[in-house]
Amino acid sequence: MQTINRLASLRDNLVKLRQSGATLALVPTMGALHAGHMELVKRAKECADKVAVSIFVNPAQFGVGEDLDAYPRSLEKDSAMLRAANVDILWAPPPSEIYPANFGTRVQVIGPSEGHCGAARPGHFDGVALVVAKLFNQIKPTHAIFGEKDFQQLAVIRQLVRDLDFDVKIVAVPIMRDPDGLALSSRNAYLSPADRRAAAALPAALDKAVKSIRSGDDAAATLAAAEAQIMAAGFTRVDYVSLVDAENLQILTALDDRPARILAAAKIGKTRLIDNLAV
Ligand code: PAF
Repeated sequence: MQTINRLASLRDNLVKLRQSGATLALVPTMGALHAGHMELVKRAKECADKVAVSIFVNPAQFGVGEDLDAYPRSLEKDSAMLRAANVDILWAPPPSEIYPANFGTRVQVIGPSEGHCGAARPGHFDGVALVVAKLFNQIKPTHAIFGEKDFQQLAVIRQLVRDLDFDVKIVAVPIMRDPDGLALSSRNAYLSPADRRAAAALPAALDKAVKSIRSGDDAAATLAAAEAQIMAAGFTRVDYVSLVDAENLQILTALDDRPARILAAAKIGKTRLIDNLAV
C-alpha cells in the first residue's frame, strides 16, 4: 500500500494507474476505522481493480461546539488495517492539501441535505458535499463506496454526483451492526460502558417501529412511541425519528408504494448516534 500525503504525488500515482486501464474504487473516511469501514473496503475490492481509501477529518463538516478536536484519530492503526486488507492507496492529506490558503468555494446540495440531520447540524452536509467533491476531483475514482448508516449523506452525495456530472458510480453498503443491533460507528468509542449498553435501545426502537408501521399501525403514533422508548432507555435527546421516502428523504405520513425508511438521531451522554432501517 502506498501512503500519500501530497496532491502532486497522488496525481503522479494516479496517472500511472489510469494508463494501466485499471478501475479505481474510493472509500472516503475520516479514519478511526472499524469493521464497518472494512466492509466498505471489501465491497470496493469487488467493484474495481484498485482501491484507494482516504482518511481526512474534515473540519468543514463539523459545526461550532461539535467534536472536531475530540474526533478519534488513529492513523497508525488505520494504516495497518488497510495494509492488511491489501488496499492500494491510502490518501491521508493534511488540511492544507484539501483547503489551501484563501480557499473560498462552498458546495450546497439543496433538497436531501434539508431536514433530519441537516436541521440538527446546520452546514454539516455542505461540508460533506464540499470534501467529497474535492476527493472525487483529486482521485477521479470510477466507483465510490459509502455506508448506508449515513443514509442522508448518501442521498446528498447521489444528488451531488447527478447535479455536477461526476463520472463515478456510487455504491451503497448496508449497515454493519454489533450483536445487540447497534450500528458500528467511530463515535461508539465515546460511549461509557453503561451508555454503550443502553445505546442498543435505538436500533431496537426502530426495529419495533418498522414492524408496527408495516403491520398498518398509524405512523405518527408509532414514531412517537419509538421516541419514548429511546428516551426511556437513557438517551438525553431525540433529534428526530422520521418515516421518509427512501429516495428524496421527504417525510411520509403513511406508507404508500414508495420505498420508505425510518431515520433517527438521538443523543446519549455526550454522543449523538444516528441509525436507519428500511421499512
Ligand atoms: O462518512 C464519513 O466518514 C464522512 O462524512 C466522509 C464521507 C468521509 C466525508 O468527510
